[in-house]
Amino acid sequence: MKLGIIGAGYVGLTTAICLASMKHKISIFDIDNEKTKCINRKKIPFFEPGLEELLDVNISKKNLHVTNDLNVLVQNTEGCFICVGTPTKNNSIDLSQIKSAIESLVDSIKNSEKRNYAIIIRSTIIPNTTREVLLPIITKKLKEQQCQLFVVPEFLREGNALDDFMNPDKIVIGSVQNKKNTFVDDVFKNFKGKCDFIHTNLESAELIKYTNNSFFSMLISFSNEIANISEKIPNVDPFQVLQALISDKRITTITNNKKIIPGLNSYLIPGCGFGGSCFPKDVKAIQNFADLKNIDTPILNAILAINDERPKKMVSLCEKILGGLKTKKITVLGLTFKPDTDDIRSSPSLDAINLFLDKGSIVSAYDPMFKNQAKTSILPNDCNYCMTIQEALSDSDAALVFTKWPEFKSLDSKFLKQYMKNPVVIDGRGFLDKEKFDDEMYFKIGYSE
Ligand SMILES: NC(=O)c1ccc[n+]([C@@H]2O[C@H](COP(=O)([O-])OP(=O)(O)OC[C@H]3O[C@@H](n4cnc5c(N)ncnc54)[C@H](O)[C@@H]3O)[C@@H](O)[C@H]2O)c1
Repeated sequence: MKLGIIGAGYVGLTTAICLASMKHKISIFDIDNEKTKCINRKKIPFFEPGLEELLDVNISKKNLHVTNDLNVLVQNTEGCFICVGTPTKNNSIDLSQIKSAIESLVDSIKNSEKRNYAIIIRSTIIPNTTREVLLPIITKKLKEQQCQLFVVPEFLREGNALDDFMNPDKIVIGSVQNKKNTFVDDVFKNFKGKCDFIHTNLESAELIKYTNNSFFSMLISFSNEIANISEKIPNVDPFQVLQALISDKRITTITNNKKIIPGLNSYLIPGCGFGGSCFPKDVKAIQNFADLKNIDTPILNAILAINDERPKKMVSLCEKILGGLKTKKITVLGLTFKPDTDDIRSSPSLDAINLFLDKGSIVSAYDPMFKNQAKTSILPNDCNYCMTIQEALSDSDAALVFTKWPEFKSLDSKFLKQYMKNPVVIDGRGFLDKEKFDDEMYFKIGYSE
């Protein structure tokens, strides 16, 4: 099929490359010229394992090309995925990108005189947005038979985007009349029989995405609450407590004497909190949506409140260990919200850096991905961003690990003593090998004082 993609970010470009690999002919459009130039050079404007190789293959095979003209894109395609950003502004969803993308697309469909052109919303938007905000933009300019509208949320995880796209657990297809055998079913026909196809209305499709993200965020905040309780009970290991929960056969099922370890176990680990471009913004957006409708959301409120405390907890543990933070040299290890991505949006480490700076500390930070990370306005200004871990640790009073990068796993007493003034490490992800450190050097949140 001939398909368009609007928005060449994490979701749009992954969608474009994966659909091209499924032998669809893809045209991609983005208003950011730097991004489109980069894609034309067969380079991915962000880091995602495996994606660049597939981009190269598909551009070479002419399955994928970039266009700077939306009229041409529409003329050459039967339908188009909208993958633009839906960030948070003052705690609620900012729809400016998606409204503007739909307006431009509708103008191009009108110019093309196409019939039944498929508009497929892939961006995450709160319930009712498609019907109440986007549909009126469409019906103002197009007649009913000129287009068909779908909400098809994306569930990929950064760092695992390729595998998540190519091996989905479900394809959710929301349409105005809750139709089956749709245009979107044809797009994803390779997955028929391999995953669930959930046909539903626009609003349910929108809410399914928020339910997914809220659920996984809830597991993280639940684990962190258990860690808070553990901290007050001498000798309790919250990691072991949660591992025991995972062993429950309602979670880890046993089939033919084989344990099936569930993917959700990676969310049942205490730590310094969740970040990234989805969980924090989506939980905030759905909470705000409920608030405006006078619906109480004690669980969503707690998810966010517990998460907000995690970077603060890292900072106060450090303050306690050092007996104060003013003029102390602090090393933050890990800026991305998780490994295998260069995304630093809403990273817990950024909150911690700001807190340390407020307390008068001198902060250095290192992330193995930083070389690929353009210095953006999200990064706190007064921090020294280092190109090596040695430089970041040099003369430091404490190091705090925020991201599970494999490079940090090799840290040990000897290495820290070599560079730090006061070799102390606070493990915010509970993944370092405690045995590699002298007792007085290693700390982990969630343990009794
Ligand atoms: N990042 C994820 O892991 C993930 C996963 C699932 C769903 N989502 C959702 O998918 C959507 C996109 O997320 P993302 O992380 O890819 O965002 P992103 O910010 O990385 O990319 C959005 C792209 O859209 C482009 N854009 C903005 N307005 C445009 C317009 N009018 N016309 C053309 N291009 C335009 C921007 O230049 C940018 O390249 C969001 O709604 C997000 O919540 C993201």
